[in-house]
Amino acid sequence: MPHPEREWKTQNTFQKSRLFRRVSVVQTIVVAVWLMLPAYVPNNAAVLLGGGTPVDFGREWRGDRVLGDGKTWRGGAAGVGAGFALAVLLNAAVTQSYVPDFLPAFEMRAAFGLAFGAVLGDMGASFLKRRTGRERGAPFPGVDQLDFVVGAFAVTVVVAPDWFFENFTAGVVVAVFVLTPVLHVTTNLIAYRLGLKDEPW
Ligand code: CTP
Ligand code: MG
Repeated sequence: MPHPEREWKTQNTFQKSRLFRRVSVVQTIVVAVWLMLPAYVPNNAAVLLGGGTPVDFGREWRGDRVLGDGKTWRGGAAGVGAGFALAVLLNAAVTQSYVPDFLPAFEMRAAFGLAFGAVLGDMGASFLKRRTGRERGAPFPGVDQLDFVVGAFAVTVVVAPDWFFENFTAGVVVAVFVLTPVLHVTTNLIAYRLGLKDEPW
């Protein structure tokens, strides 16, 4: 004999759980972008404010530049400063009622780790690019999109391990690795179209 009430209940629970899962996926994505903002802006700040003395001072290693003219002290400092400053602003925002409760604040060490790590990761990628015969500005698919993520994670996990594991849950980490290349390609294309960058990557 059918149990219409039980069926309805099952259906209702199912819908609830699907809705619940959908909400938590969106929430995970929002948290991932929020947490990575201090690691995302350094690249853009370096493009806008960089220039001057290269980090490697023009030195070569095995016949190629160590890092190349695309990595400057001013760009690096601007990147770290911009990323850290953004984290401070986001910390001020989390105390406001219009910011959802699930968005976390940044420990000062974490703010520094994310920004500094992003800049370091970008330089690490340039180092690899020069070792593999790629000229300044040459694309290195995959590496260009994720170098700063790896750098930011590596430095933050060392300087603020408790904060890192509390906030970068497995789901958030997956979201970061999936979303960042998409966001990176989009913003670089915009920067290129605006004439801020020489190449669209
Ligand atoms: N930039 C800078 N200092 C940094 C990083 C970037 O001055 N530490 C500036 C440079 O003008 C650089 C531009 O931002 O040309 C774009 O950055 P990026 O694409 O990372 O450098 P590329 O010029 O492509 O050099 P590379 O091949 O080494 O990545
Ligand atoms: Mg480049």
